[in-house]
Parts: sequence; structure tokens; C-alpha cells
Amino acid sequence: MNYDFNITLSKESRLSTVDFDNLVFGKIFSDHMFVADYVDGQWTNLEIRPTATMEVHPANMAWHYGQSIFEGMKATRDDIGTPLLFRPEMHAVRMNKSAVRMCMPEIPEDMFVQAVSNLVALDKAWIPPAQGSALYVRPFMFATDEYVGVRPSETYRFIIICAPVGPYYAKPVKLKAEETYVRAAVGGVGEAKTAGNYAASLYPAMLAKKEGYDQIMWLDAKEFKFIQEVGTMNIFFLIDGKVVTPATDGTILKGITRDTMMHIMKDKGLEVEVRPISIDELLQAYDAGKLQEVFGTGTAAVVAIVSDIKYKDRVLSLDAENYVVGPMLKETINGIRAKKIADTHGWIQEATIELQAV
Ligand code: COI
Repeated sequence: MNYDFNITLSKESRLSTVDFDNLVFGKIFSDHMFVADYVDGQWTNLEIRPTATMEVHPANMAWHYGQSIFEGMKATRDDIGTPLLFRPEMHAVRMNKSAVRMCMPEIPEDMFVQAVSNLVALDKAWIPPAQGSALYVRPFMFATDEYVGVRPSETYRFIIICAPVGPYYAKPVKLKAEETYVRAAVGGVGEAKTAGNYAASLYPAMLAKKEGYDQIMWLDAKEFKFIQEVGTMNIFFLIDGKVVTPATDGTILKGITRDTMMHIMKDKGLEVEVRPISIDELLQAYDAGKLQEVFGTGTAAVVAIVSDIKYKDRVLSLDAENYVVGPMLKETINGIRAKKIADTHGWIQEATIELQAV
């Protein structure tokens, strides 16, 4: 179905103020945003309009009880500037899974994809040209009822904003395996892309930073034994020639980049095992000289090389300079996104907007 979006163009573009060679992740936003409201059981007021601040009532339920979910996806361009989306329908599906878990309304998948496509096409000049840079697209939804009793909100707002970005991690990442705090327990909301998961990670991450580590590698909430994810990305280990990544059990975000990477690795003939992996197995592999690579995958991070993992009083230091699989994956996904490598899985689609509607 084709949805009718009301389109109001910004009077003056801010694009000329942006230095594409020095992009800080997530601080600059493109000229336009998409906004829709959920009222009386349906999505209404579908609109693309200039990106701007908005008023929110102090009793807004999202602020008090946390009904807030989001997605992160990237738009890129080919050599002639065609705006390209990467697996947008997967993000629509995942957004709706998060919505169901957080008792929020689902968004019709075709509406989600059309909104992303039209917005990116309109702001295509904001897609940085350098390979590895992208227009980060952030769809999000939050409760809008003005009420301080605890119940699901009856009204919601769905917004999409876009930010030109460079790499999320500019250098190899050091991880601390967490032994005190937990990100998610079985039965909790770990698989949902909900704001609270990120809020809960901030304090342990701050403590890890003080010790010189960039991120937490989360362990399971029951035994502190099995590796979950990193919070900003899913995690992969190359052990003795085989790639291992933790199985999703409801506590781990089902990364779309994780899925993409598993396809690429299989295409390249690599064996990928999806199964529980314990911190003890990791230590044993390291001690036996079999832990060859550790890398994280995520929309923002793409592929982040991990150079060190701290666990209790040990630090596993890896030869990150000489990784092969992680850099190959990064090059492949960036190449597909720039249309320089064949898109054999049909992941790429062009972002479009009907100009006569503008
Ligand atoms: C993403 O990778 O898109 C995320 O949402 C993670 C966040 C740390 C930026």
C-alpha cells in the first residue's frame, strides 16, 4: 500500500554547515524527519517535516515508565549518488517485536519502509560519500499519554530522524567481562530494542571506562558464565578456525548485522556455530593459543575489532592488527552497501520519493 504523507520542506538546508570529513556519531541531524501519531487505535498525521524540537507534556508516560523503543539502520549511496537502504524490512519486523514486548502498537511494515525510503530519498544529499560512512537512520516510538498511573499508554508518536555518521568505533575496542551487573535475564526485555536496556548499561559501562575499557561484555544473569553480547553490538569469536557466536535466548538483541555477517561468512565458506559459549571456554581457547579473533557487529559499529578482554584478574590480549575475518567482513558489507560488491542476497534497495508530491 502507498501511504499519503504530508510533506513540508525546510526553508533552508543546514547541509552546507556540515563537515563530512569530521563527523561525530549522532550529533548532527539532517533537514527532515518523519512523524506519525497513534491515536484511537490507528496511525495518523503521517508527515515529513523539518527536523525541529517539539513540546512534550511533563506527565508524558514514556518519561515515567519507559515505553520507548527504537531501531538503528544505515543508508548509503553508490558512486552516482543513488540513495540505498540495507534490509529495511528486517528493521520494521524487529521494531514490531520490540513494540509487542513493550505493550506498544505495531507499525505497518510497508508504512515503516515507505517512511524510511521517502525520508532518505528527500535527504539523500546528507549521505556522506566516503565508504564506511553512512546516513544513520533512527526510527523510534514512545508513549505520549499525559498520565502518571502505571498502564500502557493509549497514544504514541513514531519519529524517524537521520544523522550523517562516520565509524562508531575508530579504533580496536577493549571489553570488560562483567561479573557484578547484568544486562538481561531470561524472560526479561533483553531482546527488545528498548531505551531502558541502554540506560541500565550506563553505570557498569562508566565503571569499566574508569578501568580503561570501552564496553562491557555481558554474561548471563544466573551464573555469570555464558557470554551474551556487548550492548552496542553482538559478539563473534574465531576459535581454532571456526566462528562461534552466542545463541539468542531472549536475552540478546537479534542483530540484523549479526544475521548479515553470518550469511557472508557462510558464503565465504567459514563454519559458524551459533551456541552458548562460556567465559571458561574462551579462557581455555586463549590459553591454548586457539582464540584467533574477537569482533563485534552492529548497525552503528558495523564490525568492531576487539583487542582485549578483561575477566576477573586476567586480560586476554589479542593480535588485533593481524585479524583477517573481521576486516574481511567489514570490507564486504561496506562494499555491498556502496554497490561495489554484488548484492547476491537482495539486501539493498533504492530509497525513493515521488517528487510531484513534494
Ligand atoms: C545500533 O547499532 O544501531 C544501535 O542502536 C546501537 C547504539 C549503540 C548506537
